[in-house]
Amino acid sequence: MTRAVDGAAIARAVEVLAAGGLVAVPTETVYGLAADADCERAVRAIFEAKGRPADHPLIVHVAGAEALDAWAREAPGAAQALARAFWPGPLTLVLARSRRAHDGLTGGQDTVGLRAPAHPWARALLAAWCEKRGDAAAALAAPSANSFGRISPTTAAHVRADLGEKPEGRVDLILDGGPCPVGIESTIVDLSGAAPRLLRPGAITRAQIEAVLGSPLPDAASDAPRASGRLEKHYAPRTPLELVPPAQLHARVNALRGKRIAVLAPPLALFDRTADVVLRLIAPAAADEYARRLYAFLHELDACGAERILVAWPPATPEWEAVRDRLRRAQAGSVEGLDAD
Ligand code: TXA
Ligand code: MG
Repeated sequence: MTRAVDGAAIARAVEVLAAGGLVAVPTETVYGLAADADCERAVRAIFEAKGRPADHPLIVHVAGAEALDAWAREAPGAAQALARAFWPGPLTLVLARSRRAHDGLTGGQDTVGLRAPAHPWARALLAAWCEKRGDAAAALAAPSANSFGRISPTTAAHVRADLGEKPEGRVDLILDGGPCPVGIESTIVDLSGAAPRLLRPGAITRAQIEAVLGSPLPDAASDAPRASGRLEKHYAPRTPLELVPPAQLHARVNALRGKRIAVLAPPLALFDRTADVVLRLIAPAAADEYARRLYAFLHELDACGAERILVAWPPATPEWEAVRDRLRRAQAGSVEGLDAD
């Protein structure tokens, strides 16, 4: 459950940001690691805290569509229409950047990723930030609040366990707004080219975006702008994770006899009682609930002492596209650990 916004904590966070510090803030998708988007030194600190390569672009979080003109050189009609339809919400728009969108934010690219988050804590923080700056377009740069290549955080406890709070950890202040209601990162649409492209699937589906655009939304070509969300190895647990068609799960568990196994599968999947299944998580039947709980599942599966994680593939239907995308990346990122069996 989302916790009520704590005004005193928001005021403290604004002071931290004004001093060039880092604040972990809940958004509806995942927790973000926020800094003053105009301050190059603060933005560099984000990369240091995450251990992220400096040429990866960040998402610039704004209060609403009125900030588009400050950060984008041009906001085409499609951008205005998508912002009107889905902001505030889990949609990031990649647009030609303005001069204000410096290289530290864009990784030196000529484009900038912009999003107006819907979560009450993120909105309260952005509103207080704009007020502090006296600028309705004041913005917070924020990638997901995890170490580079690791699972995105959907609770404040995830952020504490990974990046941690200073002095022992790397974040100046972690705001706790409760678990994130969407649970996976925003949908990213690239509007900087000749035609719109989907860079990352998310809770706002391809079909919803196509309905607003009135045209198809193909995937980005393989020469699309560098984006760490597009790296195959990402969102990865440390334990090797295998995606298995539901009908083969039983056979796969048997083939792995002798290994400690953790399983995420629908309730009907059955195994021999002799199999060493140390953790058995029930996969939700609805895509939105699965998405909301996905990263908490991965954290739990990774921490239970299993030698192998088996996940049953969810259905190959449109509403599962974003969940399947994150599971595929989790498998790719953990795969070096897989042996030949
Ligand atoms: O839901 C979200 O988007 C979360 C919350 C905190 O807002 N943020 C997030 O940030 O997932 P991050 O940095 O972990 O992933 C942002 C993705 C990356 O894949 C990044 O490369 C891509 O957005 N991105 C940002 N600016 C871009 C640009 N100009 N061109 C292409 N991709 C861009
Ligand atoms: Mg990330």
